[in-house]
Amino acid sequence: MNAVYHAPVLVREVIDYLVTSRDGVYVDATTGGGGHTKAVLENVSDKAQIICFDRDADAINEARQQLQERQSQITFVQDVFSNIRDRLYEMSIGKVAGILFDLGVSSYQIDSGDRGFSFQHDVPLDMRMDTRSGLTGVDVLQTYAERELADIFYRYGEERNARRIARRVVEERKKRTITTTGELAEIVKRIVGERHLIKSLARIFQALRIEVNAELDHLSKALAQTTEILQPGGRLVVISYHSLEDRIVKNFLKERSVDRKPADDPFARQDIEIKPDFRILTKKPVQPADEEMERNPRSRSAKLRAAERI
Ligand SMILES: C[S@@+](CC[C@H](N)C(=O)[O-])C[C@H]1O[C@@H](n2cnc3c(N)ncnc32)[C@H](O)[C@@H]1O
Repeated sequence: MNAVYHAPVLVREVIDYLVTSRDGVYVDATTGGGGHTKAVLENVSDKAQIICFDRDADAINEARQQLQERQSQITFVQDVFSNIRDRLYEMSIGKVAGILFDLGVSSYQIDSGDRGFSFQHDVPLDMRMDTRSGLTGVDVLQTYAERELADIFYRYGEERNARRIARRVVEERKKRTITTTGELAEIVKRIVGERHLIKSLARIFQALRIEVNAELDHLSKALAQTTEILQPGGRLVVISYHSLEDRIVKNFLKERSVDRKPADDPFARQDIEIKPDFRILTKKPVQPADEEMERNPRSRSAKLRAAERI
């Protein structure tokens, strides 16, 4: 394991937006190595509770070790964050004071040799954050139609050569199963050449990872539940790392922070307005200061948005 599992991003900003009650119940929806949870615990009383979700067993194990001293205040849940509402209900937890989402993958997941998230290691193309179930990267490459693959590479990776790469994957898989990160990287290389290779590899690997883990779907489902989970005055804080995620968060908050008409139901009374759920606290997304970006290059793409439940 690396010396540092994951360096938490925008820690001061997260605390400033998230923590409003010293004795409250908080949810860390993406615990990772527990860096943000640790910071929250340092800023609340010993009566506060924090429910720590992560779908990755390695993350839960690491956080459990890191946070041993405050374990009586923490409940760990290995599950996707789109199950937050049900899991809190099962634990008889009512409304909470704050929910944090620090999206994407941790440095540990990227750097650890055996998970298949990175093209820097030639290993089986797994890419699942939760290795207990679901399709792997190999399954997606092997079973999806050419058009679906092209769509994924284009929409989730914004890769210009998406169609050509998808076609090549389909040609190659007729000859043999594409099983490793190295084999996928080789296919991409044959299409894009050496010059733009690293950028294209990053885009294709990101796209496949988003598909394997249904990342955008879980995000939309989880955001929709936050209105039911947060107490009035409770805070929602989301850090995203690419434009697709950030757009979902931005649109969700925009839609939920203004008066709305009832949904498109021709029989509903149109004179009734649905009141806003949130007050947006960050007009523009908050980004790390230069100093943080220099210290931690992986923080460069981070964008934090925060809102208060009305
Ligand atoms: C950027 S890391 C979080 C790092 C953490 N804030 C820290 O300080 O160490 C993102 C984490 O979210 C988890 N994750 C991503 N999508 C998830 C989902 N849908 N449900 C639960 N956990 C998820 C990943 O397994 C990963 O550990």
